[in-house]
Amino acid sequence: MARKTLIAGNWKMNETYGEAVVLAQEISNGFYDDWVETVDVVVCPPYIDLKPVKTVFEFDKRKVGLSAQNVYWEASGAFTGEISVPMLKEVGCAWCIVGHSERRTLFGETNEDVNKKAKALLAGGLAPIVCVGESLAVRDDGTYLAYVKAQVEAAFAGIDEADARRSVVAYEPIWAIGTGRTATPEQAQEVCAAIRETLAGLYGAEAADAMRVLYGGSMNEGNAALLLAEADIDGGLIGGASLKAASFIQIVKEAL
Ligand code: 13P
Repeated sequence: MARKTLIAGNWKMNETYGEAVVLAQEISNGFYDDWVETVDVVVCPPYIDLKPVKTVFEFDKRKVGLSAQNVYWEASGAFTGEISVPMLKEVGCAWCIVGHSERRTLFGETNEDVNKKAKALLAGGLAPIVCVGESLAVRDDGTYLAYVKAQVEAAFAGIDEADARRSVVAYEPIWAIGTGRTATPEQAQEVCAAIRETLAGLYGAEAADAMRVLYGGSMNEGNAALLLAEADIDGGLIGGASLKAASFIQIVKEAL
């Protein structure tokens, strides 16, 4: 089945409010509206940049989706420093990354946390971009397929098929993130296919076939076309290269 390609730029902890406006404007200037027929384009700025970035795209009438990079599962209350689903919704987010490896390794996020966040997002009408991926040690000991399968199963525990269909999974091998060491198309395809197989085990083949699985990890304008040509890679979650408008735009073009 034809899955619409999704290209998402994860800005991570980059771009001040002012810088974010400039980057969003540069992306907007290079954006062609008819692209949205074949590709969903999404940017994931830091929380406080969400509103100004939204304003830039809205003013230019660009259909660029807005995603947060994290969320807390409670709707409101005494959770100092956290941001809730209703807050993201009101600012115009339709998406949110959950379980990024940087959150898992640097901030102690567990599979259970990822599951709670995904459920809260889905309940609020937002689509989670669920990140999974193995470390170099797990890759080297050969257990990476089982490892990623377990991450997917944990993230989707208790989520029904209709909600799963609205969700996206991003395979981001930790050894490829920010290292310049991209997974080969074959390596990425192998795991993305295994992810789809896992989803098929949970929701049936038809649902799994409709769901998007992205690759992330040193994706850039030079390697995007080959990665995106793989059967089970439906888009990219791009870090470093999404911070340069020209590179990000070129990756979108490679996806057309
Ligand atoms: P890089 O593209 O910088 O390797 O980052 C990938 C990533 O972590 C996207 O979420």
